[in-house]
Amino acid sequence: MRIYHAKDYADMSRKAANIVSAQVIMKPNCVLGLATGSTPIGLYKQLVEWFKKGDLDFSEVMTVNLDEYKGLSRENDQSYYYFMHQNLFDQVNIPVENTHLPNGMEPDSQKECKRYTELIQSLGGVDLQLLGIGHNGHIGFNEPGESFDKQVHCVDLTESTIEANKRFFASADDVPKQAYTMGIKTIMQAKKILIIASGEDKAEIVHKAFFGPITPQVPASVLQLHNDVTLVADEAALSSL
Ligand code: F6R
Repeated sequence: MRIYHAKDYADMSRKAANIVSAQVIMKPNCVLGLATGSTPIGLYKQLVEWFKKGDLDFSEVMTVNLDEYKGLSRENDQSYYYFMHQNLFDQVNIPVENTHLPNGMEPDSQKECKRYTELIQSLGGVDLQLLGIGHNGHIGFNEPGESFDKQVHCVDLTESTIEANKRFFASADDVPKQAYTMGIKTIMQAKKILIIASGEDKAEIVHKAFFGPITPQVPASVLQLHNDVTLVADEAALSSL
């Protein structure tokens, strides 16, 4: 595993964007696995900036996102579909048909998980998978205890996740109770993995995930078994190392 030390959030975003951009330049028709959340926002902003300068071309790039809430429509501003369009897709020249997320409006979980797993396979797999890390070590929606051998699956969100997400919705009843996510197995099949972390609140989990025992109790610890992982984190997130 390579670890790039960044000064702060802006530096982390630029360093991580450099890695994504190198991937796009080296293989213009690459498959990027993408993440949502607060950590990658600066990275996406940087990619948009380089695109606008004429330094990046997304016309052949294909994307598959890690996860999506079940039951949220694309128009819902809390959906990951909405997030990705706001932060990246609508601001660069990627053809919309090249962008993929699990379909949150498909009620048949088995059908949707099969479709999304097969879609990723039909694209030839993910060249570079971007990940954030949750405070409990989750990656995608793979929470502690999740087995390492799952492909795309539907998860029941934990009470604490529902509670934490409540502030984004009109009421707790409106918070989705389930989500579709790539499983750990799907994530581990990516050729390269780029994981980003920022802030002191991530320091303890970054240390546990990359220097602690490999265990389903810390889902990100499985990345120690992948042969091409790059962690880009700022000083605060690396302060426990
Ligand atoms: C997002 C995702 C999540 C986040 C994680 C960290 O698609 O799958 O696992 O990467 O929750 O979120 P932030 O970046 O908001 O700290």
